[in-house]
Amino acid sequence: MVPVAALGDIVGGDQVLTDPSMVAGYTMDWTGRFVGAHTVVVRPGSTNETAAVVDLCRSAGIAIVPQGGNTGLVGGSVPLNGEIVVSLRRLNAIEAPDVVARSIVVGAGALLADVQAAAAAVGLRYAVDMGSRGSATIGGTIATNAGGLNLLRYGGTREQLLGVEAVLGNGAVVSAMSGLAKDNTGYHLPSLLCGSEGTLGIITAARLRLVPAMPCHATAMVAFESIDAAIAASVRWRHDLADLEALEVMLGDGVQLVATTFSLPSPLTTDHDVVVLVELAATADPYDDLAAAVASVDGVLDAAVATDSTTRSLLWRFRDEHTSAINRIGPPHKFDVTFPIAVLGSAVERVRGVIARARPDAHVWIFGHLGDGNLHVNVTGALSVDDELDDLVLNAVVEMGGSISAEHGIGTAKARHLPWQRSQEELDAMRAVRDALNPDRILNPAVLIP
Ligand code: FAD
Ligand code: LAC
Ligand code: ZN
Repeated sequence: MVPVAALGDIVGGDQVLTDPSMVAGYTMDWTGRFVGAHTVVVRPGSTNETAAVVDLCRSAGIAIVPQGGNTGLVGGSVPLNGEIVVSLRRLNAIEAPDVVARSIVVGAGALLADVQAAAAAVGLRYAVDMGSRGSATIGGTIATNAGGLNLLRYGGTREQLLGVEAVLGNGAVVSAMSGLAKDNTGYHLPSLLCGSEGTLGIITAARLRLVPAMPCHATAMVAFESIDAAIAASVRWRHDLADLEALEVMLGDGVQLVATTFSLPSPLTTDHDVVVLVELAATADPYDDLAAAVASVDGVLDAAVATDSTTRSLLWRFRDEHTSAINRIGPPHKFDVTFPIAVLGSAVERVRGVIARARPDAHVWIFGHLGDGNLHVNVTGALSVDDELDDLVLNAVVEMGGSISAEHGIGTAKARHLPWQRSQEELDAMRAVRDALNPDRILNPAVLIP
């Protein structure tokens, strides 16, 4: 039995949700693909309250799923096995940015978009960005080591993380928030917690690195005659363009789906099979550099280059809205995979072929972070849970030297496949760390290493 009254004594009775209509939004993930049973949702308002909730759950033997914005796509944020949900969304304080140290202290429940806005208000920038910015929380992005649209220039979430405060699974509160640029005093706990998917501790706050905001942007949508031509151009641009900010790929069917779903006008003169979004950000207008870069590569069929914010926003909507547009068809089956850039072209063909042979009636949508070799492969018109398809696709990924999770994490969806990617020795080390910091496995027992 969940000790509802005792939880209420810690966080306040109105912050313990039991009414099915209030709880429903916490038990189903953003996609609608992962749905847990009715449960209790606890919404602590401080680190101390979070620690008291963890202590109580430890003594009562109740497992916890920590939850932020519930936009994770791998079934890690919802209670699939009778856990309670601890929602961190109330911990959404954002301190004034430290413009001298170029950092910001934020609560785990702060929305990514709100942190970006706080940094922008003082001419700085939080360098992690992605389509879920309006719903994803900082705690969730740290727990998953979110990648996003600008990793090729600034690194992922781990590279931005100067400090964290967290309640470990053993109940201890660790606070490594000094934010010193150099601090080689043993294990770097922020890095350890980053990407741990809620299996080591509940992140309650973080200190994040900020970078100077570039005042000038140029964005191009470029159609290529083939995926190989797009990859060749991406390799060339990554080498040549010091101000390269983003390098994304979409295929023709996805571009058309987004256009139709959101009634967007096409920026290009006709439909094309392979479309790349490339962006430069600099201290001076990068338009000429971008136009020259587009003209310098082979296989370009068409291009639209923009520096004004209205047109740039339109170009970006085609990329940002892919996930939403596909989800409107119905909860898709999703793969989030990386490949070495040398095999990326053949990887697209191989993954398509594997799915087409196994599920001939399905539609395969491919888009992603070209500069990182990261493809998002979505399958509609088939089951959103399909173990056999998982095995076929992820086996092909591993055989080609890729990773079964580029940026979304393992969650519950891919826990079975982790041994395909990691050696026994690596898994033993991960388990030893998990068992030391989360000894009763009350935090996310079904996630990552079940
Ligand atoms: P949740 O979904 O709530 O949780 C994710 C995991 O973290 C769960 O295992 C949960 O238990 C754990 N967790 C959450 N908060 C905490 C905490 N405070 N302490 C400990 N554990 C916690 N991801 C990318 O990497 N790159 C992208 O470009 C990208 N684009 C997206 C676009 C769309 C439209 C959508 C819907 C998703 C996208 N995602 C992307 C996936 C998702 O937004 C990220 O994984 C994000 O980091 C999840 O944040 P969240 O707050 O929603 O976490
Ligand atoms: C994106 C998400 C799905 O890149 O990771 O749109
Ligand atoms: Zn992505």
